[in-house]
Amino acid sequence: MPKFFLQTFGCQMNVNDSEKVAGLLMADGYERAARAEEADFVFINTCAVREKAAEKLYHAVGRLKGLKRRRPGLRIGVGGCVAQLHGAAVLRRAPAVDVLVGPRNLARVPALLRRVRAEPRSMIDLDRRADSFDVPSSAVAHSSPVRAYVTVMEGCNHVCSFCVVPRTRGPEACRPARHVVAEVASLVARGFPEVMLLGQTVNAYRDGDVDFAGLLRLVHDVPGLERLRFTTSHPGHVTPRLADALRDLPRVCPYLHLPVQSGSDRILASMRRGYTRRQYVETVALLRGRVGDLALSSDVIVGYPGEAEADFQATMDLVDEVGFEGLFVFAYSPRPGTTAFRLRDDLPEEEKRRRVAVLNGHQQRLQQRRNAARVGSRAQVLVDAIAGPGRVAGRTPHFRIVHFAGSGELLGRTVEVEITAAGPNSLTGRLPIDSLTGASSAPIL
Ligand code: SAM
Ligand code: F3S
Repeated sequence: MPKFFLQTFGCQMNVNDSEKVAGLLMADGYERAARAEEADFVFINTCAVREKAAEKLYHAVGRLKGLKRRRPGLRIGVGGCVAQLHGAAVLRRAPAVDVLVGPRNLARVPALLRRVRAEPRSMIDLDRRADSFDVPSSAVAHSSPVRAYVTVMEGCNHVCSFCVVPRTRGPEACRPARHVVAEVASLVARGFPEVMLLGQTVNAYRDGDVDFAGLLRLVHDVPGLERLRFTTSHPGHVTPRLADALRDLPRVCPYLHLPVQSGSDRILASMRRGYTRRQYVETVALLRGRVGDLALSSDVIVGYPGEAEADFQATMDLVDEVGFEGLFVFAYSPRPGTTAFRLRDDLPEEEKRRRVAVLNGHQQRLQQRRNAARVGSRAQVLVDAIAGPGRVAGRTPHFRIVHFAGSGELLGRTVEVEITAAGPNSLTGRLPIDSLTGASSAPIL
């Protein structure tokens, strides 16, 4: 049997795209190789969001060049956002690449691979109008046995000044709700306790009369589903209906990733995010007012063109004001083809790095304090990973990571765990003595 090896950079959507490529290759008679050295086909799924992420493609192909010389039968495929953004230039810079596909053309990988095996030339498919959902859900080779990703919408209709995604993934396209529900039902039947719905602006989802809150209600009612998550939400599409769905649907987890990007109105306007700082804070208030105990995480870009110290301070203040459970801090990276690319990238890399470190340090201290207050409480943990010999890890409904002693049999099971220690990024716990009797006196997180 021929073998394939996949390397994935970037977001969960890329992970899900790679899972689709893996499944399609398996249906085409390939099996998975443990290492690139054993593979007949290596597929690199790329991310173009920041320059450093994009450069990883060329480093990865550089490493494979020697392998290809030793094994002339090896074929190399490149997919994802760098393929779409750089197009044929990828082949000029990395001539070892045989197959090049955009994020919407992944279903074509097996066919293109068959053709490059027959004809000695590279194959390209970058048609952004293609239907990226054209992969049967039964063909997806999920990488986790616990959390299954389901892409419900592709592309993005926003025009954030810094972002390449609308160029790489094209305009918004939503999958029919009935297809999503059918896929979730089949995942539950295959034993997945948790589903995460994916979209670049997932809460902008619409299929006829079904908005995102409506989709959540439909998916929530799939019998046997234990936990339902979704990402990424855009603040501009948070509605009272979404807040009510989070409050009313017990299997929808009380956690939202809500990128803010900056706490300065001047920067937000230049970024074309479509909201002010005050509107973001009001959106959070609406959510917390209705949902109560809701965990929020966010993305922030520092060092955006023209970001003065006062703008950066405004972001620091916002982080204090909102109180995020987790924060992803990125140094601004100019991306060709975006509107911000025309602005002068005026902050020295060193200053960007300083701001990243200051904000991260601040956030870590806040997380440490918040997590320390959880010691002594109990949490419902869905075990999703083996963390080491005799140790497992899982997530609480609020998406907090908990490590504790346990065996692989716990994988996929939800257990009550007593929190015994806390770090800034995760909690440590143990199965309580009374866990078998179900008695509990400590507060449940
Ligand atoms: N809606 C998307 C999602 O699924 O998260 C956002 C796109 S991007 C994959 C994720 C994050 O990368 C953004 O929220 C933003 O903070 C960051 N990002 C995007 N473009 C960037 C750039 N040019 N420089 C630095 N960070 C960037
Ligand atoms: Fe990018 Fe803004 Fe869309 S960050 S994915 S253009 S919402």
